[in-house]
Amino acid sequence: MPSPLVEHWTLDPSVVFLNHGSFGACPRAVLEAQTEWRARMERQPVQFLWRDLPDLLDAAREKLADFLKADPDDLVFVANATAGVNAVVRSLHLSPGDELLTTDHDYNACRNVLAEAATRAGAKVVVAKVPFPLRDETQIIEAILSAVTPRTRLAMIDHITSPTALVFPITKIIRALEAHGIDTLVDGAHAPGAVPLHLGLLRPAYYTGNLHKWVCAPKGAAFLWARPDRQDALRPAIVSHGENTRRPGRSPFHDRFDWPGTLDPTAWLSVPAAIQWGGSLFPGGWEELRDRNRHLASSARALLAGRLNQTLPCPNELLASMATLLLPTALQQPPLDAGRFDPIQVRLHAEHGVEAPVVRWGEPKRRYVRFSAQAYNCTEDYRTLGEAILRLSNGQHPR
Ligand SMILES: Cc1ncc(COP(=O)(O)O)c(C=O)c1O
Repeated sequence: MPSPLVEHWTLDPSVVFLNHGSFGACPRAVLEAQTEWRARMERQPVQFLWRDLPDLLDAAREKLADFLKADPDDLVFVANATAGVNAVVRSLHLSPGDELLTTDHDYNACRNVLAEAATRAGAKVVVAKVPFPLRDETQIIEAILSAVTPRTRLAMIDHITSPTALVFPITKIIRALEAHGIDTLVDGAHAPGAVPLHLGLLRPAYYTGNLHKWVCAPKGAAFLWARPDRQDALRPAIVSHGENTRRPGRSPFHDRFDWPGTLDPTAWLSVPAAIQWGGSLFPGGWEELRDRNRHLASSARALLAGRLNQTLPCPNELLASMATLLLPTALQQPPLDAGRFDPIQVRLHAEHGVEAPVVRWGEPKRRYVRFSAQAYNCTEDYRTLGEAILRLSNGQHPR
């Protein structure tokens, strides 16, 4: 029985969709809100983009700030977490020999940003190896701290890791790095809507997060939060009018980021609708939605681990609404370097109608499957995934 909540989405019913984690999926109600914004923009584009947009953005930013428990002054919209990471890292003034710290659970695009900045400055990227499987969060903190040196200038730390779906103990990591005088850029691409956030208390140097994943906003909605003492030195990934054109009553930080050239800002403007919609799906609001997704991810992982005869790689407390499991030995072939889309992932989709990312991770690289849990998913979806994996690993053809 599919979840009755699936009707809130426009998802293709012929696909078992277990990859909310990559790009999210925007509910009908939020798409409708975006359509209304678009209609208004196209009725009078100059009125909308020149005269109305600044106040509309401020209003959307306020709602987002409430949701993130942050001060709106410290918050700007960006198109995606990649843009947030680019802004922070490319604003650093690095010297030869400086070190940028990350972990081996980071996201390739963001690692590339570090590598590019390091190459330009003669600096280097240091990769902390966080064990996986792991017993508890102390191993994560220890691995990160053991890679710190007097040359560490910035640590880019994921809040929820992409390949392994681990929720890092981000508060403890930020405070431990602060004690060494190191700024943390939190890559929170997966965190908003998946775990509770209180940015006003968390207070890293920088935090970027996507809203098109677990907040279910339209694609192109993300944010960058910066501590007040770091805002003046920050430049957006795209430099535009705000660099020398000040608006009365607004900060240089907002001026620089609010207008990244002409674009469709309706994803940003639809963020309040997404926050409102997600909070009204269950009587317990966002907390209930997050808890349901977390429990579904954990129970799905137990079900799949049993079916695939795999051990659990981390305790349930380190999971939010996604989980990762090693694929059976038979699926560790064919070779792991066969292109951007893993052939097992391609076959899961093409032969079994299951959309779930197959991640190649670790040293040596091994194949893992990552599965997401969103309100439209049900236990049956994970049974289908388990049977599809078993059939592929037994060399059987689809039913
Ligand atoms: C940890 C992490 N960081 C950054 C990103 C990049 O997100 P985007 O493509 O929206 O910029 C992702 C995407 O899945 C991610 O998982």
